[in-house]
Formats: sequence, C-alpha cells, structure tokens
Amino acid sequence: MKFDMIIRNGTLVTSTETFRADVGITGEHIAAIGSRLVSEPSCTVIDASNKYVMPGGIDVHVHLQLPFCGTVSADDFVTGTRAAACGGITTIIDYAMQNKEKGLMAGIQSRMKEAKGRVCVDYALHSIIIKWDMPTKQEMEEVIAFGIPTFKMFMIYESEGWQSDDAALFSALETTAENGARICVHAESDKVMNLLIRKYLEKKDEVGAYGHVLSRPNFIEAEAVQRAITWAEATGGRLYIVHMSTGEAAEILHQARHRGINVYAETCPQYLLLDDAVFKDRERGHLYATCPQIKQKKDQERLWMALTRGDISIVSTDTCTFTINQKAMWKGDFTKIPYGLPGVETLLPAVYTSGVLQKRFDLNHFVSLISTNPAKLMGLFPQKGTLAIGSDADIIIVDPRKTRIIDFKEMQTNCDWSPYQGMEMSGFPDFTICRGSVIVQDGKFSGREGYGKFIKRRPGGEI
Ligand code: URP
Ligand code: ZN
Ligand code: ZN
Repeated sequence: MKFDMIIRNGTLVTSTETFRADVGITGEHIAAIGSRLVSEPSCTVIDASNKYVMPGGIDVHVHLQLPFCGTVSADDFVTGTRAAACGGITTIIDYAMQNKEKGLMAGIQSRMKEAKGRVCVDYALHSIIIKWDMPTKQEMEEVIAFGIPTFKMFMIYESEGWQSDDAALFSALETTAENGARICVHAESDKVMNLLIRKYLEKKDEVGAYGHVLSRPNFIEAEAVQRAITWAEATGGRLYIVHMSTGEAAEILHQARHRGINVYAETCPQYLLLDDAVFKDRERGHLYATCPQIKQKKDQERLWMALTRGDISIVSTDTCTFTINQKAMWKGDFTKIPYGLPGVETLLPAVYTSGVLQKRFDLNHFVSLISTNPAKLMGLFPQKGTLAIGSDADIIIVDPRKTRIIDFKEMQTNCDWSPYQGMEMSGFPDFTICRGSVIVQDGKFSGREGYGKFIKRRPGGEI
C-alpha cells in the first residue's frame, strides 16, 4: 500500500484502546494501522516515538465573531480556528442564528458565507431556533437533510431577542422524538434571574463583578435544567444541556439518565478549573464573566465526578472571546459585561492536565470526552472521533513530557488575557493533522486559511 504520510512508532490512544503502532495516511484518510508500515521516497514520515497519537479534538460549542452584548466576539473564523489547530482541535461546531424573516436555512447560508475561505480546521454548525412556528418545524427537516441535526435554544437572553419560551422548547423536543434531531439548551431560569439582577443592580457599586454571581445562584441553572428535562421526559424528545456549571444540575442529570431519559450534557474547563473567587478581584474580576458564571469549588468536584462516571459526556469550551477593551464596556455595571471567555486553544491541555495527570480518569476516557463522544453524539462518527481505517486522518501527536506555562502572548487566540494565565499545562500537540494535512508542526501553526471544510452530520447520534 502507498502512503502519503506515516506516523511511526507512536502510542495510539482511542477511547477504548492504547497500543503501539504506525499510522498510514493516504489522501485525507487513515489507510492503515500496523507495525513497520513501508514508506516510499515521496512519503512524509513523522517520528512519534514516546508520544501519544490521538484523534483530533472536537469542540462542539464555539462562538466565533458572534454579535453579542453590543459588540462582536474577538476571535473570528481565522484566529479562532488557528487557535483550535494549535490546541489540537481539528473540528469545531459553531452556530447559525435563525433569520427571523427568512428562516433557519437563510441563517445557515449567511453563516457559511462568513466562514468561507477563512476556516483553518473543519467546521460544522448548530442551527439556533429563536422563533418556533409551523414553518420552523417543517424547515427542521430541510436543515437535518442539509447535514445539521442539532438545534440550539436559549432559555434566557430576551434582550438579545434569542429567548425561547417553554412552549417552544416543549414543541421542539416533541419534534425531535420523530426526526432524530437533538435540542441543545442553554438552561438558566430567566424570570427569577432577572428579579435578582434588578435587586443587585441597586447595589452595583458595592458588589462589582460579583453581582454576576449573586444574581445567578445555583438554583437558576438547576431549575431550568430540571424544567428542560421534564419537557424531554414528557415528549420523549432528545435533549443536550450545554455548558453545565453546577453540582445541582449534575445531580438532576444523573437521576434523569438513570430513569432512561434521552438527555446528555457538556461542561467546560472554566467550570472545572476556576471558581467564583475570580469575580472578587476589583480590577480584573469582570473579565471572567460568562453565562452561566463560574461557580464554586464544590461544583467543580461534582462536575468532575459527573465526567468520570459518564453522566456528562463531553467537555467543550463555549469559546466567546472578548478582549480587555471589550470587557471594559461594563463600566462598573455587571449586567453590561460582554459575556464569554476564550478557550478553544486550551481545551485539550486543560482536560488532560487536570483530568488525566491528576488521575481523575485515564487517557482513553480523555479521548472519549474530547473527541469520540462529541463525534458520536453530534453525528460525525466514525468519520471523525477515532483512529480507524477509513476515518478522516484528524490526528494529534502529543509529547506527554512537555509542559507549558499558559501565556496569552504565546497563543493564537485574538485575546490580550487568558483565564488560565500562569497555569502549567501539558497536552499541547506537537503536530495537528487535519484530513491528512499537517496544520501544526512542532507546536507552530503551519496550515492555511480556507483549508477547513464544512462537515455534514447525521441525525440520531447517541453514545
Ligand atoms: O456568556 C456566554 N457563554 N456567551 C456565549 C453565549 C452563550 O450563552 O453560550
Ligand atoms: Zn449559553
Ligand atoms: Zn455558548
């Protein structure tokens, strides 16, 4: 067999196995996995001795150049996907907002136009439903056939015009029981949250950025998660909770999955590595504002436990980058902070360092959380999410002995600060290979804008 590339002598890690082998790549696909694969003169050979060879990461929750909170998130399709590549992510899933007049597909077409010629890794889209009616229900079929089987709904963000009410959520979930799509929900309880926001706004100078914490106690997420799960149970619908941040919600999820309800969830590194003490810093606390906000240490531990025992299936980032200048828009009012954090570049190192190296789970489970489960649940498997013959050659090569001190100045993200600044992390890739092309070499971006392709996905994804 003739290969374009051979990754030699690495330790291959999938979600189920760890073994020494060579990987042979022909064109965009893995063509062989075995020992002593024969290289011809034209073949590129990468020595992966003493390194891990793993499927590329899949970040299922990314908002690049998102118009939000009166500004636009700072990582665009170029910088965000370059950052993804350098962090070992070979596929991102971003969002396409429904066009209120023209519908879901119109929103998808315009988002794809924004991405065209700019993405450096492969990408897919979730379709955001903001207006539920009969045409939207019917259009879901077209969107699914187009290759987008996941739909996002927000239980908050009335002021952005994005919010769905319970009737819409119930009806959309009911529809997924028939069409195999999945509803991805931002679950926070808006009525009580708004009441608390009004209460703490009166004391905004006193509470500072910590007002963001005070107005969103854990029950704000837990109640909304419980409500969404109730609608999923009643309808037999297919539910996915995005950016789960509380121990209470993790417990509700555990009970619901135990009862056999079709619900999955993700959490993000900010909820696993950081705690809400960050908001007490009078100078920089507001930088960390994201929705839901970072919670307490006890929540971190409960979320790790949920990841370890498989209740939470995916770690994503909810990347929505804002610079120090953009964050300064708050001017002391915690309701005016552009909400969101950079993250796509540090996802894999964060989970590897705090998950695997701190012995919360093994390397195979790590691969399942950042690659295989995302691929399975989001309808990409086995094209992506594994090392197997015929799969896309989306591969990272990681030297486990290398560590790095996180410094925003050395990263690709278009951000002048990092939530993880100064932390020591391992797990950055030496090489990132996307569909057979080396896009990161020796830790440096070597790909090109426009290389990334839109990837069509299938409905019915389960883990
Ligand atoms: O604050 C956040 N997370 N910004 C992005 C929008 C969202 O809610 O996911
Ligand atoms: Zn959200
Ligand atoms: Zn988000």
